[in-house]
Amino acid sequence: MEYQQAAEHFVALIQSQRERIAKMKEQRDFIDYDSLDPLIIGVVGGDGIGPAITKQAQRVLEFLLDEDVKAGRIEFRVIEGLTIERRAERNQAIPDDTLAEIKRCHIILKGPTTTPQEGDPWPNIESANVAMRKALDLFANVRPVRVPEEGIDWTFFRENTEGAYALGSHGIHIDGELAFDFTVATTEGSERIIRAAFDYADKNGKTKVTAVTKANVVKTTDGKFLDIAKRVAQEYPAIDLDDWYIDIMTAKLIDTKRRQQFQVLVLPNLYGDILTDEAAEFQGGVGTAGSANIGKRYAMFEAIHGSAPRMVEEGREKYADPSSMMRASVLLLQHIGREREAQRLTRALDICTAEERKLVMTGRDTGATGAAFADYIMDTIARES
Ligand code: IPM
Ligand code: MG
Repeated sequence: MEYQQAAEHFVALIQSQRERIAKMKEQRDFIDYDSLDPLIIGVVGGDGIGPAITKQAQRVLEFLLDEDVKAGRIEFRVIEGLTIERRAERNQAIPDDTLAEIKRCHIILKGPTTTPQEGDPWPNIESANVAMRKALDLFANVRPVRVPEEGIDWTFFRENTEGAYALGSHGIHIDGELAFDFTVATTEGSERIIRAAFDYADKNGKTKVTAVTKANVVKTTDGKFLDIAKRVAQEYPAIDLDDWYIDIMTAKLIDTKRRQQFQVLVLPNLYGDILTDEAAEFQGGVGTAGSANIGKRYAMFEAIHGSAPRMVEEGREKYADPSSMMRASVLLLQHIGREREAQRLTRALDICTAEERKLVMTGRDTGATGAAFADYIMDTIARES
């Protein structure tokens, strides 16, 4: 790219971000799930082991929400078409027709999807996760991590639409010598995620929100994020704002004497991506973690691990462990106000994966199938209530 072209590219980026700000400002309140009839849950399997594990989570959700489903208050809709093969063929992160189907739902339960990178056999299209977060404006990526026996009870509020991700596919190469990527922070975008973190803290009896940035070095965007955190904090006098840099934060998470002090953490997109993988490791790895992607109109719940294509190549997808999708389902239930069902599922997951472990998943025929595991979960739910 020539200098002039690069300058024009930058102007176009500014324009696209201004349009995004205008759209953010138009959005009023959060949708009220109780007013929907029916509330539509779209089940998007994704690719690799995605469809197999998502199907098992759907069975458990339908079991828990049986009365609502029978009464027509809740409808499950399976949406196919978000496979890597189809995305590659269309050369789109989310094919238009699939996105249109998704937008006719209120809530999405999403299985893993392959994210291509340079050098893969697939075209280097944008990640379906990232595209969906943008298309549905799912600005709050909420990732809880709990290890009760170690006093760990963290809830991460990762900003999900800005930072290094907003223009991650729109960087520029100049003269083959120089490469630029862009990081974006907006007042509106920072404020809504920080407010979400404080509101959550407020409603859940938490006394501290920790903002994680690198504002001492990345002065403009992270500086803005931190300034807004300080401003919003003034509205919540009962909650302390703590301010940490991402480097020392990654260290403090492994400090067994200090890490119990963190409660709610709010952070820009890329730091949130990294820190939540580290945090999930203490609870048993990314395979055990669910993730909520929340916006004002839509919300999407997913596992945070990949699609394990090799398991499918070896014909082992039926042995894939669906517990991450079931943890994501817990977040889904909480989000639509089904706290009791969320607790029943959490209890069953704890029993089946830790306390009792009558079935063990190994990812191959030496262990149980996902379907058998889902049956075990449902039997446990029935037994415990
Ligand atoms: C996650 C994942 C995604 C991300 C990838 C798959 C693009 O790592 O959900 O944390 O970076 O956000
Ligand atoms: Mg990640």
